[in-house]
Amino acid sequence: MTKSKYGIIGWPVKHSRSPHMQMSAFNKLGINAQYDLIPTNPNDLKSTVGNLVSEGYSGWNVTVPHKTNIIDYLDEIQTAARVSGSVNAVSVRNGKLWGFSTDGYGLEMSIKESFDINIEGGKFLFWGSGGAAAAAGAHFVNAGAAEIILVNRTISKAQALKQRLNEFNADTKITVEQPDQHAALKTLIERVSVVIQSTSVGLNVDDPISIPLELLGESLCLVDMIYSETTLLKEAKKMGCNVVDGKGMLLHQGAKSFEIWTGKTAPVDVMRQALSAG
Ligand code: ATR
Repeated sequence: MTKSKYGIIGWPVKHSRSPHMQMSAFNKLGINAQYDLIPTNPNDLKSTVGNLVSEGYSGWNVTVPHKTNIIDYLDEIQTAARVSGSVNAVSVRNGKLWGFSTDGYGLEMSIKESFDINIEGGKFLFWGSGGAAAAAGAHFVNAGAAEIILVNRTISKAQALKQRLNEFNADTKITVEQPDQHAALKTLIERVSVVIQSTSVGLNVDDPISIPLELLGESLCLVDMIYSETTLLKEAKKMGCNVVDGKGMLLHQGAKSFEIWTGKTAPVDVMRQALSAG
């Protein structure tokens, strides 16, 4: 049996945990496959995509900074991925390149697992309106979220995202708020199902805390999309909030990628173990 080839393109990509996680799933299901780290300079994105196809890759994950630019080189894009302008999984089917976004699904599953909260009918506040919020927001409106509140330093970016999301699903109520309107935000946060930290603030250990702690109340459900335990999560936990970092999202986006590629149910628990060990 020939070996199937998969991988992840990004810049930098050497710290990715995806190879360990995906190989645990291939091994568990007895699939003869490899999953490579493929460092890809932004200037080389087009040629790398061409090389992956000619080398017979069946699919690959896409991470920062290529999630938007990869779209130019794909043939078919899943609707939610097109709306968010973000693709994190590519599948090669009969020579055609298909683009998917599985990050929002990953966040949905993480929220379900951690807080037992469904997206359908829920109210969510995204702190940030960049690529991460866009990917999750498109999935959430598609999944029937009742309400989404977008809070962003650059208000025009939040407004542009609101418009794109509402064109996709007008049934979700979407509002935009300024991050310095603390009194209004405190009241809003009391009414939402989950607050989702989706800015890049917190990626570096000496970053400030993105969401002012005075806005958080006891028993609030808070997700930080950053994979490690940020200072925000540590402080929120001390205040009695229910917190979860981005590892659950990473796990489930990977599981969905695996299912898109193989058509088989992902062995999520094996992947979870690999992620925590790796
Ligand atoms: P993208 O994910 O689209 O590449 P980004 O520039 O990495 O975007 O920023 C992601 C999010 O983090 C955005 O919401 C961004 O806010 P702006 O739209 O105002 O730039 C937010 N962000 C990044 N640095 C920030 C900071 N120092 N303070 C507040 N928000 C910040």
